[in-house]
Formats: sequence, structure tokens, C-alpha cells
Amino acid sequence: MVSRVIPVQPFDLVVFGGTGDLARRKILPALFRRFCAGQMDGGARVIGAARGEMDGAAYRAFTRDAISEFGGDPVEMEAHLSAFLEQLDYVALDANGDDGWDDLVGRLDDGDRIRAFYFSVGPSLFGPLATRLYDHGLASPRCRIVVEKPFGRDRSSAQKLNAVLAQHFDETQIYRIDHYLGKETVQNLMAIRFANTLFEPLWNSQYVDHIQITVAESGGVGTRGGYYDKSGAMRDMVQNHIMQLLCLTAMEPPAKYDPDSVRDEKLKVIRALDPVEPEGVVRGQYEGTDTLPGYRNEVENRDTTTESFVALKARISNWRWAGTPFYLRTGKRLRARASEIAVVFKDAPHSIFGSDSGRHRNILTIRLQPNEGIEMGVTIKEPGPGGMRLVDVPLDMTFSEALGPQSEYVPDAYERLIMDVIRGDQTLFMRGDEVEAAWAWVDPIIERWDVAGTQPALYSTGSSGPDDALALIHRDGRRWREIRP
Ligand code: BG6
Repeated sequence: MVSRVIPVQPFDLVVFGGTGDLARRKILPALFRRFCAGQMDGGARVIGAARGEMDGAAYRAFTRDAISEFGGDPVEMEAHLSAFLEQLDYVALDANGDDGWDDLVGRLDDGDRIRAFYFSVGPSLFGPLATRLYDHGLASPRCRIVVEKPFGRDRSSAQKLNAVLAQHFDETQIYRIDHYLGKETVQNLMAIRFANTLFEPLWNSQYVDHIQITVAESGGVGTRGGYYDKSGAMRDMVQNHIMQLLCLTAMEPPAKYDPDSVRDEKLKVIRALDPVEPEGVVRGQYEGTDTLPGYRNEVENRDTTTESFVALKARISNWRWAGTPFYLRTGKRLRARASEIAVVFKDAPHSIFGSDSGRHRNILTIRLQPNEGIEMGVTIKEPGPGGMRLVDVPLDMTFSEALGPQSEYVPDAYERLIMDVIRGDQTLFMRGDEVEAAWAWVDPIIERWDVAGTQPALYSTGSSGPDDALALIHRDGRRWREIRP
């Protein structure tokens, strides 16, 4: 199966924070892979911009190292790297002052190309960058800005950021990134739901007992302790990534697959979320092992109460979902890196096979990573004589097996998202009101923790999280699915 690659129009992409970690690990390697795929063949220019003095040649060397470290296939590098690097340049500039801006303007003054400015910097620089772009005549109606997370740390700061950006840019020009929306399987969730007649009639509280969304990581906070300890799992993962997964799972079918139709439906889900009760949320912090530091040591803050794990029970008060809880959990240093959405259907109303046949349930699992795919658990008769014994088996559609070798390469989310920016498609980006509504839901939970000053529950590295998280779901007579790679 050969996938179609449609080249994008020629563009200029300025990456503010062009020498930062995200540019190195994600943005530059993603651009290179799109270049290799032939999607940037119309002539593109990528200009790294940061404070440090560096010339174009040094930036190209920096990019070469980044690509070989993060995802450069040796064959592709041999074939395409030199040509790709020729499209790169660098400008030293100050986001808080005027140094370097005339230089940038000078490099961009040739023609009416698509122009995108990627704010791969901390949120405190979003406002100054937007203002400088405007002051230097670069904020034309055709340009786009791409804004990284974290988008604020609560509703009020997100509102302020939205207001600052809105002074110079229209909402249709602002691309707020949540890289989970660029993941292949996340987009597939919409295809499964809305391109098949099979699931939609069952996708409601009449047939679905509950839904579990798990984003488990096996790694710890690593070198990001400084940032992470001020955020915690609730701000870092739940307010954005998990919320997006919840929205795509729960939303009504949009009339069209276009930015506002999809985002309107997601917003309705967020607004229908009930406030979370104190007993409906558990937070945890990982302990160390003989060889690995615990959370507190890793972030070098002995007294920190920041959570590296959250489990919670969410309820959506609307006709479709009343009575069907969504159990959400995410954490670091868990048993495995494994993310999935599991739709657990209700028991058959009556078993004709008698009580000896055991309890069997259909579960639709959408595996985000690793081994992207979809699995439907069905109950069948166990083969062989000896009566009607029932057994659960998976109808498994691992993409790499079902779609052949072509699909074994799963593009990184940033590849898809950056190309969407150039194409001018905002469907997989968050709208300002959506981000604010998501904060409005998580803010009271965080405030309650701050006021109470309670300690997070400790959990062992390599476990499934704290025991309290097990109790959260056991209380309802249900159990978490196993976290397995
Ligand atoms: C980031 C978080 O947004 O997502 C990290 O800041 C987290 O803490 C990461 O590790 C997870 O992304 P992925 O794509 O590896 O699942």
C-alpha cells in the first residue's frame, strides 16, 4: 500500500527557541522526515531563532546532530540531509528587545509565501514575541503562530495569554499545539467512531459500562524536574492530553470534519463535565529504587507535594453519558509505557449459558502507544468437545500487521501537526475557549490540594500507581486494566 504525499506550498517557518530541547528532539527531526517524504519539495525555509550568537553554518551543524540523534534514518540521511540543511538558516534575536529583528525582517522580505512563527519557548515569552512580530510588520493576516504547551497554569493565566495573542492575531491564525492530537491512533479514534456504522449506535450509556483512559509512562521526570515540579501530572497531562482523549471519545458526531465543527463538539464535552468530588481523585508520587532516584530526589525538592500520578473518575452530564463514568489515569515511572482508551461494554442482559460460563464482556481497546492498533474483545466458544465453554479472544487489528510494512512507520505527531499549520488546517489544534474550559475543570481540583496541603500517596517505581488509585475504581465494583507494554 503506497501512501499519498501531497506537497505543501512553499513556506517560511521561523522557530523561536530554535536551539531548544523541543526543536532538537521533535521539530527539526519532524521537518526532516517530511522533507524525505517529499512533502516539502516546493521550497521551504526554516529559520531557527534564539538569543545565542550563531551563524547559519553552525545552525546547520546543530540540526545535523539533532537529526542523527533523534530519528534520522541513516539511509535517508545519506540521501537527503544535505539538501534539507540547505533550507535552514539562523537569526540571533532577543524576544524581549529589538536586537536581531531587522535581520529577521530582511530575510523574510521576498514575496508572499506562507509564513509561520513557532513559539517553542516558555509562556512568558508568548506575549513579547507576539508584540515584536506586530511591531516589525511581520504579523500579516496570512501568517500563523504556533504556540506550545503549557498554555497557562490555570484558567486566569490562560485567559491572559489568549487576550495578549488576540491583540495582534485572529483566532484563525493561532495554532495551540497538543501533540496528542497529532498521534495516528488519536485521529483514528475519530475514523473508528464516525466512519463505521458498527460502533456509534452502541456508543452511549445504554451499552457502555465505563471507559478507561490510561497514559502510563515508565520513565521519570528526568532532566525536566525544574519545570515538572511546578506543574505536576494534573497540569502536565490531564488538563491537555488526557482531556483531548476524553473529548474525542465522548463528543457527539460533528457535522463535518472541520476545525470549528470538531472543536465545538469537544467544548460541549468539557462544559458537561461534573466537578470532581474529593474522593473521586487520587494523586501519587513515585518512590525510588536501589538504582533510580525517587521523585523528590529527582526534582531536588525534599518537601515537594507535586504529583507524578493522577487517577480520577470523571462524569459527563449529558444524555449520551449520564451513568457511564470515565476513569482517567496517568503517571510516570509506572510498570510500562502504555497508553490506551478502553471502552468496556455492559454485560449481555441475560446469559443463556448459565452461571458456570463466567463473566464475559466486550472491550474495545484503542492502543495509542506502543503497538498502535485497535482490539475488540469478543466472547466465543472454546474449541473442542466438552460442552459450551466460553472464552474471550481479541479481534486484533495491529496497524502494522493489518496494513503491511508501509504502516510500520508511524509518523511522529509533530510531522502531521507542522504540515497542518502550513496547510492552514486547525482541526487538530486547540481553540482558546477550549483551553480555558479545560482549566476551569481542573483548577478546583488543584486548588483543593493546595488548600488542604495533603501529601500525595507514594507508589513504587514499576507499579501501577498508589493503592488508593485501585480503591478508586474498586469502590464501584470495577477494576483497572493491566498496564502492559
Ligand atoms: C508532554 C509532557 O507533553 O508529554 C511530558 O510534558 C510527557 O511530561 C509527554 O512525558 C508524553 O508524550 P508522549 O508522546 O511520549 O506520550
